[in-house]
Amino acid sequence: MQTVRAPATSANLGSGFDVFGLALESPADVVRVERAAETTITVTGVGSTYIPEDPKSNTVGAVADALDAPARIHIDKGVRPSSGLGSSAASAAGAAVALNALYDLEYTREELVSVAAEGEALVSGVAHADNVAPSLLGGFTIVTDEGITQVDASLSLVACLPEIVVSTRDARGVVPSSVSLADVTETVGNAATLAVGMARDDPALVGQGMDDPIVTPRRADLIDGYDGVRTAALETGATGVTVSGAGPAVLAVCRADDRRAVAGAMIDAFDEADVESRAYQTRIGSGAILYE
Ligand code: HSE
Repeated sequence: MQTVRAPATSANLGSGFDVFGLALESPADVVRVERAAETTITVTGVGSTYIPEDPKSNTVGAVADALDAPARIHIDKGVRPSSGLGSSAASAAGAAVALNALYDLEYTREELVSVAAEGEALVSGVAHADNVAPSLLGGFTIVTDEGITQVDASLSLVACLPEIVVSTRDARGVVPSSVSLADVTETVGNAATLAVGMARDDPALVGQGMDDPIVTPRRADLIDGYDGVRTAALETGATGVTVSGAGPAVLAVCRADDRRAVAGAMIDAFDEADVESRAYQTRIGSGAILYE
């Protein structure tokens, strides 16, 4: 038997659509696997009633198939589905690490990224790796066709999750198919600023680089109360605020001393829009942990 804790993640970070991602210290999924003749899946925890246990419809079933590693798999969800916090990616990453150990497959974490991304294709239709990469590798990750760059960072974060459901498919549907050169120029500048900020563990520089004129404004429209939440977070010390992944979670970067106030302000602002929410006061954390 093998047990793995795989963290939630936040993708895009505004200016890095489908490229940037980071691991959150919390919340996380816990995946337990045991050898079996064929794969079966059971799911408990947050939002588990919405997750299919049929291996053909579950991201984790796709991972077991890809690794040719049949198992009895139990997923204890800590990351709510359709949250924008990489819920399916956490399960896929956890299963990939656990099955790799169970069958002594000896794949590296980097090699497991493409395996886990296949699981993602089941739920979003696209095998993008910007959530599975940080869940497997930890820290801040840059995923391109050329490979993955990983940076250890430890910035303080607040991920505020409203009681709204936004599916990744719907959120991808509002992304524009063409953009102006001016918007591309602005986004490239911001993305470069953010990446340097991560390398320096500098919350001001990271926040400065999170603005994105292309994707985030369209997706913000799908989140009741977003503008008020963003303003409230910035007024209480957040250095940058954006939609986490496909939403509806909202991610704020801040200094450790401001984290509690930022979290409270974000919850209050959602309240004002009649939306219940909870806030994870967290930081950039490590990748999936295999319990020996
Ligand atoms: N980069 C993806 C998106 C992450 O924003 O659509 C969602 O899983």
